[in-house]
Amino acid sequence: MRPVKDVFDEWSKAGRGDDMAKRHWPRVKQAFSRISPSAGNYLEIGVGNGYAISYIATHQFSGGKCYGIDVSGEMVRYCRENLAHLDHVTIEHADFLLWRPPKPKLFDIVFSMEVFYYFHDIQAGLDKAFSIIASGGQLWVLVNFYIENAISHDWPRRLGTPMQLWSQADYKKGFEKSGFADVNQQLLTDKNAEDGITLCTVGKKPSV
Ligand SMILES: C[S@@+](CC[C@H](N)C(=O)[O-])C[C@H]1O[C@@H](n2cnc3c(N)ncnc32)[C@H](O)[C@@H]1O
Repeated sequence: MRPVKDVFDEWSKAGRGDDMAKRHWPRVKQAFSRISPSAGNYLEIGVGNGYAISYIATHQFSGGKCYGIDVSGEMVRYCRENLAHLDHVTIEHADFLLWRPPKPKLFDIVFSMEVFYYFHDIQAGLDKAFSIIASGGQLWVLVNFYIENAISHDWPRRLGTPMQLWSQADYKKGFEKSGFADVNQQLLTDKNAEDGITLCTVGKKPSV
């Protein structure tokens, strides 16, 4: 087993970030269709090649500010190249669990596709997201590695990096434990996808 950053450094150098983006986009697009335009702050965890943050920065958050982070230095380098023309987008090289957001910044939307199960402690990731979301803001967590998606269970062995296997109910309970309200889940499908069905969990930070 090796650290996740080593896996994605290698993938980025081999051009696999672009393949991954093409595979994920049909499902991310379905999720994004439910996000309203905003002049606020968007954060994406684990940006990969930057396809998703690029879309939202030129659509719903074209009048806002967008931040992206990734633990892979190679993904960050490539993502920055792809997004260099977007002045309101900042990409940082960081492990989300250790990341210190620019202060006094709170985010209106925090989004991730295929990232949370790489955290050694998923609940710590949910708690951290809760702590940096504005009142009324939302956390969106999309995953394909979860108990009900049996096709994914051999990924830790295939990728050679640790992953935490939660169930659909674990994600819902984890969101609620962090303090999120109105937690809802959808299953996103793409008939061409070979990695099964995407579990999308969304929670809202209650207004104070
Ligand atoms: C499966 S890829 C998904 C990339 C992109 N979201 C997509 O849909 O193509 C997972 C990404 O999450 C990043 N990642 C994993 N653990 C992370 C962490 N603790 N903090 C920040 N990024 C992380 C990896 O480096 C990688 O780029």
